[in-house]
Amino acid sequence: MIKPHGGRLVDRRIGKEKLERRLEEAKEMKSVELDARESSDLELMGYGAYSPLEGFMIYGDYKSVLYEKKLESGLPWTLPITLATDEDDLREGEEIALENERNIMGIMRIEELYGWDKEKEASMVYGTKDTSHPGVEYTYSRKEKLLGGKIELLSCPSHKVYSKYFLMPSETRKVISDKGWRRIVGFQTRNPIHRAHEYVQKCALETVDGLFIQPLVGERKRGDVAADVMLKTYEVAINKYYNRDRVLLCILPAPMRYAGPREAIFHAIVRKNYGCTHFIVGRDHAGVGNFYGPYEAQQIFDEFGSEELGVTPIFFSNAFYCRACGGMATEKICPHDASMHLIFSGTEIRERLKKGEDIPDSVMRGEVAEILKRYYMSDRNED
Ligand code: ADX
Repeated sequence: MIKPHGGRLVDRRIGKEKLERRLEEAKEMKSVELDARESSDLELMGYGAYSPLEGFMIYGDYKSVLYEKKLESGLPWTLPITLATDEDDLREGEEIALENERNIMGIMRIEELYGWDKEKEASMVYGTKDTSHPGVEYTYSRKEKLLGGKIELLSCPSHKVYSKYFLMPSETRKVISDKGWRRIVGFQTRNPIHRAHEYVQKCALETVDGLFIQPLVGERKRGDVAADVMLKTYEVAINKYYNRDRVLLCILPAPMRYAGPREAIFHAIVRKNYGCTHFIVGRDHAGVGNFYGPYEAQQIFDEFGSEELGVTPIFFSNAFYCRACGGMATEKICPHDASMHLIFSGTEIRERLKKGEDIPDSVMRGEVAEILKRYYMSDRNED
């Protein structure tokens, strides 16, 4: 079994015997209200999905991540994981309750309180200061001071509609070990499954033992399909078109940052913590609009040694159906003219589905299109 990032799976959950006492103590502490993304980060750190992180970043790690793409210890890490506040009666050294919608989720001992430069973070992490980038917009909207320190996780969200697909890294590692898989490829997604996804997943699976599909269900931008609907498309496609003995489907309750290349490294590391030895990075991974080049999220892997990353990326170029090949192909392997390629943009697919029109089966499975048609034609769709 592959080792977690940093060598050890972090577990900051509070066991039953201490839980009641810590909850009582937390009620007496000053509290900080976490937004949806910070709450997700707290949860994921609590059960080790972000190993080796044990808490929100202190300044040394924060700065090192921005400038070096590494933690102060030298371990690769590309995204800042921070907690922002405007409370001004907080002091270093004290314990605070971490709340979400007035429920106590955790406790943190404040190790450091520090100011931050939002524009600097935006340009380092997202490569732009443009507020039409959803990650930049969020960064600018945050509070003015950052709080760093180790956390304790007291309560974990129930993940309601997805609870069936909720597994912690210790649990996925157990499943993987029980199945006897030695090489496992991870797949990140925030979109309903289409044929290019299916193609890259199956090509990758051909060379390893198991496919770990992990749709991201934390906060995403307006316009992304609702997470439960996205998950449903995977459920249906896997049931009908995949060898279920070789697939593990579970959710990643993380927020989407749309940080392109930096997020690709982050996604790979997190999937390593869940037990993956390999990770798929296709075209414009974690991209948004035209902020990143189509293969920037692959090129960033050259900046890291394979030993220090531990998890091996599997790259795919743009995949599509080619009429001349008579099957799925990619930019890399197809010799035919672009006029032979059946490529629909996300917007085109959406527009068609909204009108109740069909999508060619070579672009999206009929069963998936049906689920999305119902969604787009319902009042759940926000567009
Ligand atoms: S992402 O923001 O989570 O990366 P998406 O769910 O669309 O978006 O992509 C999931 C994974 O599939 C990413 O690794 C992405 O690069 C890859 N991918 C999506 N579409 C294609 C495609 N047409 N060709 C190759 N890879 C693709």
